[in-house]
Amino acid sequence: MAVWELVQGDITRLRVDVIVNAANSSLLGGGGVDGAIHRAAGPQLLAECRRIAEARRGCGGVACPPGEGVITGAGRLPCKKVIHTVGPVWHGGGQGEGELLAACYRSCLRLAEEAGLRSIAFPSISTGVYGYPKAEAAAIALETVRVFIRETPGISRVLFVCYDRENLEIYRNQEG
Ligand code: APR
Repeated sequence: MAVWELVQGDITRLRVDVIVNAANSSLLGGGGVDGAIHRAAGPQLLAECRRIAEARRGCGGVACPPGEGVITGAGRLPCKKVIHTVGPVWHGGGQGEGELLAACYRSCLRLAEEAGLRSIAFPSISTGVYGYPKAEAAAIALETVRVFIRETPGISRVLFVCYDRENLEIYRNQEG
């Protein structure tokens, strides 16, 4: 059974198999953790994301719909892979935001497991620019991962990476 850890720090510095990026549907970078990951990875990550985006737009879709994930290389990052996922924008909770956020965590875990990646680090998806309330998002993250790893032996380690102390305390309170 996998273990999970709550850590405070910068996700771009973690030596895990895969880190998760809180991206947007274009996959072409942004601010927040998206910006930090691209800065640390170097231009080759954006080049790969651009190739994926152009191929998917060619099929009439966005590069990555909310709730789904796309796996890429990691450029100069210390991890092996990056999974880019697109969280929901918070609109008050009545537009399926909770289910979409849970879908992000499941999609990333499924992609990691299928790729044979055993350790995965998540930022607090959607709780920055996208405005998702931090405590509710933490509860969804912990519960979704708890259920998934009980049923999926392929994942051995999950890290919830909180960029600041406030968020770490929120996760600790939600963990119970
Ligand atoms: N390491 C770990 N966590 C980080 C880091 C980092 N280096 N930088 C920021 N964070 C945290 C933020 O403090 C927040 O808790 O990541 C969480 C997610 O915040 P955002 O990065 O703003 O992501 P999100 O709310 O999902 O919004 C996504 O923002 O950057 C754009 O392109 C991105 O359009 C997309 C949107």
